Amino acid sequence: MIARALSFLLIPFLFAVIVYSKCAPKPLLLPISDVELSAGANVRGVGLAVGTPSKNISFLVNAGRNETYIYGQDGLCDDSFSDAGCFTYRGGQYDISKSSTASKVDNYRDNDGTSADWFKDNLFAQPDLPINGITIGVPKKDLDQQYKPQAQLGVGKNSSFLIFLKEAGKIGARAYSIFWGLASGPADQQTTGSLILGGIDEALTGVDTKKFTSGFTYDFTCGTGMLVALNDISLNWPNGTDTSIFLGQRSTVMQACLQPDYPGLMTMPLKHWENFVKLAGGNYPGGVESRALGFNFWTMLFEPEGVFYGDLTLSLQNSISIRIPNTQLVVPDKYVDVSTGKVRTNETVRNLPIDPIQEINQNDLPILGRLFFTSAYLSVNHETETFLSGRP
Ligand SMILES: *[C@@H]1O[C@H](CO)[C@@H](O)[C@H](O)[C@H]1NC(C)=O
Ligand SMILES: *[C@@H]1O[C@H](CO)[C@@H](O)[C@H](O)[C@H]1NC(C)=O
Ligand SMILES: *[C@@H]1O[C@H](CO)[C@@H](O)[C@H](O)[C@H]1NC(C)=O
Ligand SMILES: *[C@@H]1O[C@H](CO)[C@@H](O)[C@H](O)[C@H]1NC(C)=O
Ligand SMILES: *[C@@H]1O[C@H](CO)[C@@H](O)[C@H](O)[C@H]1NC(C)=O
Repeated sequence: MIARALSFLLIPFLFAVIVYSKCAPKPLLLPISDVELSAGANVRGVGLAVGTPSKNISFLVNAGRNETYIYGQDGLCDDSFSDAGCFTYRGGQYDISKSSTASKVDNYRDNDGTSADWFKDNLFAQPDLPINGITIGVPKKDLDQQYKPQAQLGVGKNSSFLIFLKEAGKIGARAYSIFWGLASGPADQQTTGSLILGGIDEALTGVDTKKFTSGFTYDFTCGTGMLVALNDISLNWPNGTDTSIFLGQRSTVMQACLQPDYPGLMTMPLKHWENFVKLAGGNYPGGVESRALGFNFWTMLFEPEGVFYGDLTLSLQNSISIRIPNTQLVVPDKYVDVSTGKVRTNETVRNLPIDPIQEINQNDLPILGRLFFTSAYLSVNHETETFLSGRP
C-alpha cells in the first residue's frame, strides 16, 4: 500500500497553464445548488434543464462514467414510492414523449455498457447556455441504488459530454473542476458549489493555497482512477487540541478513492471509526447504531445531545490538510418523503456523514465522497491525464 502511494507522480503545478491556451474558449461555470424540481422539492446537484419545454434536472457528477443519464417516465423506483416521491428521488424525470426536440438514437455505441435507451435532445445550463443535440441515456435499470439515485453527468475518461462540448468549440479541453459548496450549516454561511468545464476556477485556487497533482491509477477498486494516500485523520477541538484517530501510527497510511458523487464525507474502515467514536463521543439514537437512509445514505446517525462539536482534518499525499468544519460534519438527516416527494429532515437525529465499512480489502477501498468537496476542490484534466486537489 505504502509503496503504491509513494509511486504517485508529484509534479509541479502546471495545470492551469496547460488548460488556458490563448485561443481556447473560457471555462463554463455550472452552479451546484439546491435545484428546484417542484414545490418543496429542492435537490442539490448540477442544475440543467432538459428538452422543450424544458424541465429542471439535478445531476450528480460521476467521475467514472462516460455518459449522461436522466431517469425517464418510468423512474424505476420501488413500490413504496408515489410518482411525486420518485420524481424527487431521481432529481427530476425526463418525459421524452413531451419534449418536441427529443429524437431517438438507434444503435448508439455507449462508452459505459449500461442498459439504456438513447436520445438526442437539448440541455440548458442556467442561465443561458444551450447544449443542443447531446446524447442522453434513459436507464432501463437502476444505476446505483440509494447511493446515487439522481440523474448523472458522466465526466469520466471518455466522457461523451466533455467530448461533445470540446468538439462543439464550447470548451478548450476535456477538463473539469468540482466544488460541492458549503451545503449545510447556518443559512447565511451556505454557499453555491460549482462544476467548471474546460478548466479550473482561479478563484478557488489562489496562488497561496496548497494542492497536489497526481496521475490516474485505473483499477477495479477505484473506477475514477483517483487514488490518494491518507496520512492522518484528526479531530480538532475548539480549545485548539488535535487528536489523531490513527493514534500517531505513521504505518497506518491508507489509500482512498476520490468519488465526488458518493454520499457523505467518506467511508472509513471500522477500526478507525471505533477510534473516532471513542474520541468524539456522542450517543447513537436510543442506544442503537443507526444509519441515514436519505441523501447521505448509509452514514451514521447520533442523538443531537452530546454530538461531536469539533472539526475533522484529513491529511493527504503528505502535502495538504483538508479541514472539514463542524457545520459540514454534523449535518441534518435530509431525505425524500416517498409519499409526497418533499424533502424532509429527521429532527430527532444529527447525521455524521461517515460510513464505517467492515473491513478494508480489495473491494472496499475507503472513498472520499461529496461532502469532502465542501472543503476541497478537485480538478481533472483528461488531456494531460492528471488530477489535482486542494483547499479553495
Ligand atoms: C426550475 O428552476 C428555475 C430556476 O432555475 C425555477 O425558476 C423554476 O421554478 C423551476 N421549475 C420548477 C418546475 O420548479
Ligand atoms: C469510461 O471509458 C473509459 C475509457 O474508454 C473506460 O476505461 C471506462 O471503463 C469507462 N467507464 C465505464 C463506467 O464503463
Ligand atoms: C472513446 O469513445 C469513442 C466513441 O465511442 C470510441 O471510439 C473510443 O475508442 C473510446 N476511447 C477509449 C480510450 O476507450
Ligand atoms: C481540549 O478539549 C478536549 C476535548 O474536550 C480534551 O480532551 C483536551 O484535553 C482539551 N485540551 C486542553 C489543552 O485543555
Ligand atoms: C428518525 O431517525 C430515527 C433513528 O434512525 C428513526 O428511528 C426514526 O424513525 C426517524 N424518524 C423519521 C420521521 O424518519
